[in-house]
Amino acid sequence: MDRGLDRVAVDGLYLATLGFSGWQLGNAAAIAAEEAGRPGLPTLRVENACASGGYAIQLAVDAVASGRRDVVLVVGLEKMTDVSNARRRYWLGVSGDTEWERLAGLTFAGVYGLMASRYEAEYGPVRDALTEVAVKNHANGALNPNAHFQKPVTREQVNSAPSVAAPLGLYDCCPVSDGAAALIVTRPEAARRFTDSPVYVVGSGVSSDHLAVQERKFITRLDASRSAAEEAFRNAPVDRKGLDFLELHDCFTIAELLALEDLGFAARGAAGKMTLSGATRLGGRLPVNPDGGLKAKGHPIGATGVSQAYEVFLQLRGQAGARQVGGAEHALTHNVGGSGATAAVHLFSVG
Ligand code: COA
Repeated sequence: MDRGLDRVAVDGLYLATLGFSGWQLGNAAAIAAEEAGRPGLPTLRVENACASGGYAIQLAVDAVASGRRDVVLVVGLEKMTDVSNARRRYWLGVSGDTEWERLAGLTFAGVYGLMASRYEAEYGPVRDALTEVAVKNHANGALNPNAHFQKPVTREQVNSAPSVAAPLGLYDCCPVSDGAAALIVTRPEAARRFTDSPVYVVGSGVSSDHLAVQERKFITRLDASRSAAEEAFRNAPVDRKGLDFLELHDCFTIAELLALEDLGFAARGAAGKMTLSGATRLGGRLPVNPDGGLKAKGHPIGATGVSQAYEVFLQLRGQAGARQVGGAEHALTHNVGGSGATAAVHLFSVG
């Protein structure tokens, strides 16, 4: 049973947002506290590009675990659709390298397109697997009333879509979305005051990498994802085999395959085969992105990492409706900033 939470119990607030399109709003976290009916709260705006939400969750967990705060509100939000296409491209680009990438005209779709091309050169054709990621995540999004896209797409639609950055087409890309999500992070004993069925954060890891892709040793691996996972699993009471589903950062379809490998769920070059086997579908051995992922649920930058944890919260409490992963007790979220300069990984369990 949920007993609810009076807002006076909240004693801290983290706001995850890029501040897309240059709102020209400094001190935005203070405004969030005011809007939440708690002016005067200690607040912080967290900005680590698309990984802002994941980082904000770790800050909240640390604040509570250290005893400094008792009940922390984590909010993620982004408003992206109220600007022109040119301004949108500009604001999407600010989280990438300027000298070597932006000034050469490279967008994030372009960077992930290069990763996909290189992946094909190293491991062979990947188009079928990318298409499967898009079809699967749109099918899941169709079961999520909060998804940006709630319509399934066919393999033919994906394969005949306009090219965005070869080999990636329209359905290989996440959309530009508006959205917000919020969580309450508190101590286990305190959580029982509010609900009989809390969800526990049992592992938390964050990391970073060179901003410019050309500085990295590999472009078919996101090392920040690997090291964030290493931190999250260190001392965690659950291992990879114990997880029931994953929320992965599929900003582009190739990113879902790279994440399966970087996080240790598939061998290098084997994520495509795993995906094509149906293992990552709802009902498969290890469902990935039951909420539709960034691909179909949408990717409102600062909100994304928080919304992944919200999906885990619903799933682990058996409240995910038509997209419920049967008997889910343990799950992982993975949130990446830009092309992998930052990453956050969290592990959650019930009981
Ligand atoms: N997947 C599926 N459909 C999409 C889509 C996507 N990613 N993006 C747009 N559409 C659809 C729209 O709903 C619209 O459909 P309609 O004609 O039936 O209404 C149509 O395609 C055209 O939409 P529009 O907004 O004009 O598309 P666009 O060409 O301006 O933008 C992308 C398409 C892929 C370039 C844009 O979504 C994009 O930049 N995505 C990546 C965002 C990003 O980089 N985020 C950061 C990641 S690190």
